Amino acid sequence: MSSSASGHDPRADTSQDAGKRAAGEAAVDWVRDGARVGLGTGSTVKYFLLALGARVKDGLRVQGVPTSHDTAELARQLRIPLLPEHELWTLDVAVDGADEIDPRLDAIKGGGGALLREKIVAAAARTFIVLVDHTKCVPALGASMPLPVEVTPFGWPNTAKLLRAFGDEPALRTRQGKVFETDGGNYILDLPVRAIDDPARLEAQINLIPGVVENGLFVNRASTVIIGAPGGVQIKHRAAP
Ligand code: 5RP
Repeated sequence: MSSSASGHDPRADTSQDAGKRAAGEAAVDWVRDGARVGLGTGSTVKYFLLALGARVKDGLRVQGVPTSHDTAELARQLRIPLLPEHELWTLDVAVDGADEIDPRLDAIKGGGGALLREKIVAAAARTFIVLVDHTKCVPALGASMPLPVEVTPFGWPNTAKLLRAFGDEPALRTRQGKVFETDGGNYILDLPVRAIDDPARLEAQINLIPGVVENGLFVNRASTVIIGAPGGVQIKHRAAP
C-alpha cells in the first residue's frame, strides 16, 4: 500500500513500526472477495485495516467482525461493512496482532485488553492469522511480559489470590490512574508467569479459576504468522498435527 492510500508517512517509522506496517499490509492478501473477516485490535492490525479499507474502496466485498470498540470505530471510518454483534458468524479468516509469539506459533495477547473478544473471533474463523513485528518473537512465552487475565470485577481480589498459584503477584491493570475496564466491563490482572513450559496446560488451568473470564494465551490457534521487519515479511505456517 502506498503512503497516500493509508495516509501514513513511512519516513516517520521506527524499525518496529516498519515491521508492523509490513506485516499488516501483507495480510490483506489473505482476504478474498466476499470474505467474512475477524478484525483484530492494536497498532499492528491498524495497518491491516488501513490496507483492507483501501481494497474495499477499490471494490473488494467483505464483512467484518471487530474485536473492540476501537476497531469497530476505525472500520466504520474506513467504510468496512460490519456484521451484527449478536449473530452467529462463520468467518473465513481472522487477522490479529500479538504481544509475544513463540516458535510453535503460540501467542500471548491482551496487551490492549481485547483478549476475550479476540479469542471468540479467532475461534469462529477457519484461518487465524497473527501479525507481529520482529520484536515480538520469543523463545518461550511469558518471559518478557506478564500474562493478561480478564476477570470479573466482582471479587477480583479473591480471583487474584487464586491466580498466585500460577505466578507472582498479579497487578490490576490501570490506565491514566483509573482501573482499566475492558469493552465487556471486566478488569485485567497482569500475572507475571516467567517462561511458560506448557502453555496449553496453563491456558486451560487458569480458565478454571472462578472469576476468570479468559486469559491471553492463544495456544494451537494461529495457522499462519506474518512477521514484519523493516526489510519485508517472513511467513510461518503451523506444522500439521
Ligand atoms: C490486544 C492485543 C493486541 O493484538 C496486542 O496487544 C498487540 O498489539 P500491538 O499490535 O499494538 O503491538 O492482543 O488485546
